[in-house]
Amino acid sequence: MGLPTTIAIDGPAASGKSTLGALLAEALGYLYFDTGVMYRAVTLAALQNGVDIFDEAAIGELAEKVRIDVAPPSADDGRDYDVLLDGQDVTWEIRSDAVNDHVSDISVYARVRNAMTDQQRRIALENKVVMVGRDIGTVVMPDADLKIYLDASVEVRAQRRYQEMLDRGEQADFEAVLGSLKNRDHIDSNREIAPLKPAEDAIVIQADCLGIQQVLEKAKELVYRV
Ligand code: DC
Repeated sequence: MGLPTTIAIDGPAASGKSTLGALLAEALGYLYFDTGVMYRAVTLAALQNGVDIFDEAAIGELAEKVRIDVAPPSADDGRDYDVLLDGQDVTWEIRSDAVNDHVSDISVYARVRNAMTDQQRRIALENKVVMVGRDIGTVVMPDADLKIYLDASVEVRAQRRYQEMLDRGEQADFEAVLGSLKNRDHIDSNREIAPLKPAEDAIVIQADCLGIQQVLEKAKELVYRV
């Protein structure tokens, strides 16, 4: 059997799955697609247009209407790619606290999930891909050749996220970071549609005591073993 051509990586917020996905895709020459940016872009569109986050019908309509594109990086400012919302560069805006605080709320809506899942499946059909998210192995690509679930305790994830913020020179409050992650974990894991959980055939990597290079090595072992 050849190498897996569709690789799903799921896991909770700040588990390191995006970094792993980007490195693995680069090593294999595959497309890297981080599905979280789509949910973030819809959230930003709602905030920018004054659409009530809790108005399910209006958010669903917005999700079906907006055009979200991911393109090669246009600036050398630490980004891996550009995220475009109706043509506007929103690469950094989608990482703001306001988006962090509301993205899990809009991710529970069926119409939002359907619109995003359709686009993600199309991308997976057209490319050799490493796709990262919450429901890739369970819903978006249930037939993926390899499924990895990257896990870590909420304390370790909060510590890493907190340190990243300090390293970027940002103000950071550990308890606030921890609280925000716990809140997102709760919503992402308990929603009715496509909750965060490992697929039955996913391989779980527990990363509490592993650095990113060790996680990458483990993932590569899985890729070459399949
Ligand atoms: O991976 P991230 O932190 O950028 O994801 C942001 C939010 O988007 C996450 O809290 C839930 C939602 N999401 C989702 O519901 N399904 C996905 N496949 C990816 C993200």
